[in-house]
Amino acid sequence: MRVVSGIQPSGPTHLGNYLGAIEQFLDLQTAAAEALYFIADLHALTTVHDGQRLHAASLSLAADLVALGLDPERVALFRQSDIPEVPALAWLLATVTPVGLLERGHAYKDKLARGLSGSAGLLTYPVLMAADILLYDADAVPVGADQQQHLEIAREIGTKLNRKLGALLVKPPRALVKPAVAIVPGLDGTKMSKSYGNTLDLFADEAELRRRIMGIQTDSTPVEAPKPLGSPLLALLELLSSPEEAEEHRRSWSAGGVGYAAYKHRLADRLVERFSAARAQRRRLSERPELLESSLRRGAERARAIAREVWGRVSTAAGIGSPPAFG
Ligand code: TYM
Repeated sequence: MRVVSGIQPSGPTHLGNYLGAIEQFLDLQTAAAEALYFIADLHALTTVHDGQRLHAASLSLAADLVALGLDPERVALFRQSDIPEVPALAWLLATVTPVGLLERGHAYKDKLARGLSGSAGLLTYPVLMAADILLYDADAVPVGADQQQHLEIAREIGTKLNRKLGALLVKPPRALVKPAVAIVPGLDGTKMSKSYGNTLDLFADEAELRRRIMGIQTDSTPVEAPKPLGSPLLALLELLSSPEEAEEHRRSWSAGGVGYAAYKHRLADRLVERFSAARAQRRRLSERPELLESSLRRGAERARAIAREVWGRVSTAAGIGSPPAFG
């Protein structure tokens, strides 16, 4: 099985990224899978227009992934922008994509609703993503639930391309979503997201993490009383606990006797414990950017070998580029 997925370097890596996607990336590097994971810097261009910042953020995301356990010897870890076949395929896909399909995209509508200017890049974001998804002949794409609609759009665009050119040129892969962590809530109870300011950033300073957790909004239910269900505090604590501990948290939450502050301390402790080794490794990696750069370059070579083959097949069928030698 071959899997492919990407993460935008548009902000610090948070718990939602980890539980929804990165943990799957790690599982899939030990299973019998060939994995390609990329830093989606072309996608980040829709929100970041500061070259130095974007370059640093890409390298920082690569360091985060390696510190969390991604092994660049086993998987191809690379920058999306190092694969020129991605924007080339995106353009071809754009020519078969109905504008209405893009206008119905949740992520696009959400960004417009939050006042982001509706650039053509934002509208065609799913087309670029379809190129990522279709360029490597992958079988599956590990993602959180918020990317599922993008996967469906990619499959639809891929099928349209095959139909227009009259051959099975690209292979639409399926989404791999882990139901229990499909949508990790943020500190305010809505989806944890870089753009909502409600994240728990895995590599933030410990004091800052604790401060953010202590700031989770709670009501005035007294310590001894049962707590109302639906709080992100309990949901996050459950996600970071073993099944037995989670059961115990649920029990005491409904029975009463434990105050919100105690749950907040538990959540902060779990988070710090769970990622302490990664945080230490992350500090070591940040002193060796040249190692990360060379891993990213090697990853790009591996990914490009596949990309060239698929793009060769597709571009020839579309009638663009120098045709393969006669003879
Ligand atoms: P991005 O950078 O927003 O998120 C990276 C991954 O983290 C998952 N995720 C979550 N999962 C559960 N709960 C959450 N609160 C949560 N927040 C984020 C996302 O679902 C994603 O899997 N467009 C993509 C990047 C991309 C991509 C691709 C992904 C570009 N090309 C091709 C897959 C295949 C994005 O912005 O993800």
